[in-house]
Parts: sequence; C-alpha cells; structure tokens
Amino acid sequence: MSQPLAGKVALVTGGSRGIGAAIVRRLSSDGATVAFTYSASGDKAKAIVDDIEAQGAKALAIKADSGDPKAVQDAVEKTVSAFGGIDILVNSAGILLRGTVDDFPLEDFDRMFAVNVRAVFAGAQAAARHMKSGGRIITIGSVVAERSGFPTASVYSMTKGAVAAMTRGLARDLGPRGITVNNIQPGPTKTDMNSDEASHEMLKQVIALGRIGEDREIASFAAYLASPEASFITGASLTIDGGYLA
Ligand SMILES: NC(=O)c1ccc[n+]([C@@H]2O[C@H](COP(=O)([O-])OP(=O)(O)OC[C@H]3O[C@@H](n4cnc5c(N)ncnc54)[C@H](OP(=O)(O)O)[C@@H]3O)[C@@H](O)[C@H]2O)c1
Repeated sequence: MSQPLAGKVALVTGGSRGIGAAIVRRLSSDGATVAFTYSASGDKAKAIVDDIEAQGAKALAIKADSGDPKAVQDAVEKTVSAFGGIDILVNSAGILLRGTVDDFPLEDFDRMFAVNVRAVFAGAQAAARHMKSGGRIITIGSVVAERSGFPTASVYSMTKGAVAAMTRGLARDLGPRGITVNNIQPGPTKTDMNSDEASHEMLKQVIALGRIGEDREIASFAAYLASPEASFITGASLTIDGGYLA
C-alpha cells in the first residue's frame, strides 16, 4: 500500500472520537507518526493508540483541553519531543453548543470561541515555530460558515467563519515559508456531535447525494491536503458536503 506520509509527524487535536479519530487512523495508515489530543475520552484514545501500535506504527495520545491554549501549546511541544518534529497539524477538536439568540449564555459563547477558534490559533502558532517548508496546517471548519441552515447555531457558525478567515490570514503569514494552511468545511457528518436520526432524515432531503457524510470521507480529504500532492493549495476553505450547498 502506498504511504504518501511516510516519515512525517502529525498532531491531530480532538482525535479520540468522530472526524478527528478517523483522521488519526487515516494519517497513520498513510505512513505518518501521529500524536493526538483528547479531553474526556481517555479510554477511546487508548484504544486508538493500541490499534495503531498493533499495526506496527507509533502513536501518542495527549490529554489536553483545547479550552486552555497552554495545553494546546504543550501538546505541540510533547509531539516534537516524542517524535522529533511536526510536519502536519490538524485542528479537529470542536464543540457545538446550541441555543437561539434569545437566551444564549455568554459563558457558552466564550467556551465555544476558546475551543473552536483560540485553540486553532494557539496550536498553529506553536506548530509553525517547528515546521519546515512543506508543513501543513489543516482545520476542520464547517459548512455553516457559508450557510447556517437552521436556528440555534449563530455562535457556532461564527466560530467556523472565524477559522475560515484565520485560514486566509495564516496562509499569507506562512506561505513565504512553504507552509500551507487550509480549512475543510464538512457538511452533516455522522458522529456523536451529529447523531440525531430524525434530523438526519430531514437533512437527507436537502443533500444532493441524499445521505449524511461519513467520518472516513472527511479523513480522506484531510489526508490529501496533508500530502505532497496538495502542494499548491493554501488559504482555501474547501467544502465536502455531498452537495448540501449545491
Ligand atoms: N459532525 C458534523 O456534522 C460536523 C460538520 C461540520 C464540522 N464538524 C466539525 O468537525 C470537528 C469534529 O467534530 P465531530 O463531529 O467529530 O465531533 P465529536 O464526535 O463530538 O468529537 C469531538 C472530538 O473533539 C474532542 N474535543 C471536544 N472538546 C475538546 C476540548 N475542549 N479539548 C480537546 N478535545 C476536545 C473530543 O474529545 P473528548 O471526547 O476526549 O473530549 C472528540 O475527540 C469539529 O470541529 C466540528 O465542529 C462536524
């Protein structure tokens, strides 16, 4: 099997479940040595490390709450000391706290911005210090940056709009060093964050392909962007949504 990421070191935030976990597994099977963070799901994180080690590869799970920028920066440093550098950072950790504008708690606003936005910047800043030309920074944004689609997600949508804007800014800052920065915007994807069967039935009606996305489909796109094949893509927010926006 071809291993386009052989010799590369990756850090994935929020790699214990869902899209992040699929990305951890995919980057590892593509040859990268992968570290990943988790905050609550220690057992799931350990199971992923065990699976990867059973395949004869190395992996490292790091407990780091993305709400704390220092924890994210430390995770970058732990990755570098364990594996000798960092070539790929994937920011996948994210939370969705819903509510309409009427009574949305400002504590939830701050928490969502801390995890979905500030941690992305803090991680990129820490990782970029170690990255060489060819480095890759990939964030999992969301299609809600383009279209809200339903009530109760104004703040979540704002965080994903912020990472799209940040992606363009970071691409400009880091382009001269040969580091690419991109933002993947998934549509509805089956994970714990998006597991309600009734809303899936409604969403299928407005998705061109008539189904919800799978975490491995998002992981496959992330693996492509992480690979040398994607060397001329930067500053882009790329939608992967089965035609939800079409
Ligand atoms: N599913 C969708 O339909 C969809 C669509 C568009 C975009 N997205 C985005 O895709 C990303 C992954 O979402 P998902 O659907 O895979 O969500 P998920 O199933 O809820 O998984 C979230 C992951 O993020 C980690 N995480 C959450 N809060 C964290 C924190 N404070 N610090 C560190 N890690 C944290 C979780 O780890 P622990 O359990 O260990 O805390 C878990 O590994 C998010 O950025 C989300 O906004 C999802």
